[in-house]
Amino acid sequence: MKALITAGGHGTRLRPITHTKNKHLIPIANKPMLAYALEYAHQAGIEEVGIVVNEGDKEISGTFGDGNNLNVNITYIEQRAPLGLAHVVTIAESFIDGEEFIFYLGDNILVGGIKKFIDEFHENRSNCHLVLSKVPDPERFGVPEIKSNKIMAVEEKPESPKSNYAVTGIYLYDHSIFEAVNSIKPSARGELEISHAHQYLLDKGLSVTYSEITGWWKDTGKSADLLEANRLVLDNLDGLREAEVDKNSSITGRVVSGKGTRIMGSTIRGPVILGEGVIVEDAYIGPYTSIGDRCRIIGSEVEYSIFMSDSKIENVGTRIEASLVGHEVMITNSSAKPKTHKLMIGDQGKIELA
Ligand code: G1P
Repeated sequence: MKALITAGGHGTRLRPITHTKNKHLIPIANKPMLAYALEYAHQAGIEEVGIVVNEGDKEISGTFGDGNNLNVNITYIEQRAPLGLAHVVTIAESFIDGEEFIFYLGDNILVGGIKKFIDEFHENRSNCHLVLSKVPDPERFGVPEIKSNKIMAVEEKPESPKSNYAVTGIYLYDHSIFEAVNSIKPSARGELEISHAHQYLLDKGLSVTYSEITGWWKDTGKSADLLEANRLVLDNLDGLREAEVDKNSSITGRVVSGKGTRIMGSTIRGPVILGEGVIVEDAYIGPYTSIGDRCRIIGSEVEYSIFMSDSKIENVGTRIEASLVGHEVMITNSSAKPKTHKLMIGDQGKIELA
């Protein structure tokens, strides 16, 4: 069993963050989004992982290297243009080399790993096994039509969905998927759609089975969606509490913290993760907040947010919440007169002032 994971695209809807960072490397609970997929693959006993990246990309390979740190062997496969998910499968044919594989979209986050789905795929002995999740807006996804517990058809982003399930970005295949992806034609949006490949398998009478999951999240491109993913992961957070905490601080709920982190005169209500070397002083950190390494949160209140590493929040009068903050960002109180907002913001930045 091999794994094929996508990590390409341009994340245009997540600018300005994606001006300097591949969307798949945005931290969720202080870990790059893509690391979850790689960890799940390892936990499921998979050793060989192919990661599909944009042509010429060095950022993903610069982060994960040969995969040694995560106990997998990574092969990077370049996609020359965004020609669709089924196209991604076509270019991975020689890497897959006849084995069964899991195809995992790197911007999907789920709770509980993937082993269960691999086991169900094997128990069903099917040619293709889809992982489904109930959603309020199936028209945004691949949608199955199900009768008597059987998938009858799969449509891509249908106007009138035939069920309230989304086909999530977790697919299990045997070799027959290659005939499918090599036979279908591009859709109206000019892409080889993975849903059309699934329909091809059904039309050929091959078996397409499914599992259902809860606790799944799909990036739709807004910061609010990343904060939701962060909440989902923090809700299941497990880890050490290595921070030094003084006697004037109060910590409640699930709080994970790294080495060299100091909490002084502050209140923290989990679930919260603090990286290494973080300073929290005279501050409040509320639920569903991830604070990256070496951040300083001083005299300020933050909640339900993601702060990447090396950022400083100092003496800010209003609580900061529902925010996605990059690396080395400074948010401080302006004490100089006149009392105004003084901003230096990169292209496509977004600020909401209270
Ligand atoms: C893609 C697939 C769609 C699937 C979704 C899951 O959508 O085309 O069938 O439901 O991933 O993440 P896209 O990312 O193109 O919107």
